[in-house]
Amino acid sequence: MGSRIYTMVNQKGGVGKTTTAINLGAYLSKLGQRVLIVDLDPQANATSCLGVDKHTVKNGTYEAMIGTSTAAAGLLSNSTVGLSLLPSSSALAGAEIELVSQTGRDSRLRAALEPLHDRYDYILIDCPPSLSLLTVNGLVAAKDGVIIPVQCEYLALEGVGQLLQTLQRIRQSLFPSLRVRGVVMTMFESRAHLSTDVVGEIRKHFPDQVFNAIVPRSIRLAEAPSYGLPISVYAPSSTGAQAYLALATELLIGDGVALPQ
Ligand SMILES: Nc1ncnc2c1ncn2[C@@H]1O[C@H](COP(=O)(O)OP(=O)(O)O)[C@@H](O)[C@H]1O
Ligand SMILES: [Mg+2]
Repeated sequence: MGSRIYTMVNQKGGVGKTTTAINLGAYLSKLGQRVLIVDLDPQANATSCLGVDKHTVKNGTYEAMIGTSTAAAGLLSNSTVGLSLLPSSSALAGAEIELVSQTGRDSRLRAALEPLHDRYDYILIDCPPSLSLLTVNGLVAAKDGVIIPVQCEYLALEGVGQLLQTLQRIRQSLFPSLRVRGVVMTMFESRAHLSTDVVGEIRKHFPDQVFNAIVPRSIRLAEAPSYGLPISVYAPSSTGAQAYLALATELLIGDGVALPQ
């Protein structure tokens, strides 16, 4: 039946896209899924979070999109963590310019990932914090929907409104069946009334689209990348780890995938 492909998207930086891609991916893997993380951000944070130095990347997302290599040739696998990675490098920043004149410029990533559909149960794409051509490629590749991390902060709803307009434009022009798989509330602070208010407000506007699992602000989640580890390995009993396990479980149940016994 091929991979499920979800893209983490939000034009705002620092809301937890990369953290969600890595840690949701790590728990999907722990729950028995074959998982690929695709780093579509020239800043290569997902790549570094998994302990890979972007300067050493010869074949990655960029080369697969431009067509000088294939996605299969760029795959790196981390057996400790149980994840595969299609890494980014700073070369990806140049993809913007090079792709503009190429045919199928909006669907390069979708096409590049197609040969991998039998190899993975889940492909999670980590977008840059912009609505660039790279992000458009991330959206067009999001066969099964987008996952929108939203930070529990003032004016969160406003940012999501802009994003939904963008998704609507993509539906009209390139990909009519683009859907929102779910909104993940991140950096929740249980002692701050604001966090609770924001979650309530987002839930009101997106009934049935907000995941029940809420990711708390957790220092462990912020520390894990400097060890090149997902939270499932770095601090599996932390509150952040529990939240991403709950999110992975919720996603699998919603997707009708059997959980391991
Ligand atoms: N739940 C959280 N609690 C604490 N820190 C977090 C949490 N989620 C993300 N961070 C940290 O916040 C910063 C931004 O998160 P990141 O996932 O890189 O966002 P984005 O990819 O949307 O730019 C990173 O330093 C990350 O480690
Ligand atoms: Mg990021």
